[in-house]
Amino acid sequence: MNLEGRSLVTLLDFTKQEIEHLLDLAARLKKMKREGKPHRYLEGKNVALLFQKDSTRTRCAFEAGAYDLGMGATYLGPSGSQMGKKESIKDTARVLGRMYDGIQFRGFANSDCELLAEYAGVPVWNGLTDRFHPTQVLADLLTIKEHLGRIEDVKFAYVGDARNNMGNSLMIGCAICGLHFRAVAPKELWPEESLVEKCKELAEGSGGSITMTEDREEGTHGVDVVYTDVWVSLGEPKEVWRPRLAALNDYQVDTEMMDNAGENAIFMHCLPSFHGVDTEIGAEIAKTFGHEFPRVKNGEMEVTDEVIESEKSKVFDEAENRVHTIKAVMLATMSKTRD
Ligand code: CP
Ligand code: NVA
Repeated sequence: MNLEGRSLVTLLDFTKQEIEHLLDLAARLKKMKREGKPHRYLEGKNVALLFQKDSTRTRCAFEAGAYDLGMGATYLGPSGSQMGKKESIKDTARVLGRMYDGIQFRGFANSDCELLAEYAGVPVWNGLTDRFHPTQVLADLLTIKEHLGRIEDVKFAYVGDARNNMGNSLMIGCAICGLHFRAVAPKELWPEESLVEKCKELAEGSGGSITMTEDREEGTHGVDVVYTDVWVSLGEPKEVWRPRLAALNDYQVDTEMMDNAGENAIFMHCLPSFHGVDTEIGAEIAKTFGHEFPRVKNGEMEVTDEVIESEKSKVFDEAENRVHTIKAVMLATMSKTRD
């Protein structure tokens, strides 16, 4: 399997075999890291990490992963570079491609990530855009494999804002890898029709399936995985909070929902998550909207504190797996030599 030189803008560009290869490689790198075995396979190379939006996991996974592999890493944050302000994405791509051996991009428009990949001449990895978050899905698939022993045939319920970057990307990953994906969300938050159709075609080939439902009980009944994400994503304006709370209030993942899932079901979340008043935004939402939407009065939004702190919750395994899967992506796609 040779993925050298490939970018990862969306998992739609990858086959089931290629994804499985990345997951196997990640598992091997995880084992080496745990055993303290050095794996500086990319010594002498450097990566640029471009962030138009904030991050904890993705930034740290790319940085720590680059260092583990023997590389240098440069972080460019939401301010402090010329990108998009004084310099176009196309020019930025050609400049950074001359200096670095790989580029991570987290930003707003997915089309910017595509442009970088087209012009950089080195692999570009999508670290989250408005449409996709593929490196997160690789970590999620590895986590499912570790806990359930398989990914094929797993019944997977994504509850909440199903048309955001996570809803889209998990549906794609499940479709390619043969999981049974259910989006459990109000109709206005279902993924766009053309992407659903594309994923249904992919699922036919992999033995998986794609279902959309508004029914919280039916949608989560007997599933192996209950997954949710924040109700308002990075970059969305403050004004969307009230309508989003109104739409998703009934879709909060609580113990009742987990009890309705399969007996050995696990809970997953890409994080960060609102499950209390110990964040600025959690406290503000609780104060502003708690009287109108009683479920959020303690700062619990997409998931209750009880569920995220329960035995069923695997959210910190997912977070750890970000670094192992991102290392696999960098190692597999970076060219060993440059022209
Ligand atoms: N899950 C995830 O991408 O987290 P960060 O926003 O912290 O990178
Ligand atoms: N949908 C979320 C994912 C965060 C990892 C966002 O875009 O903010």
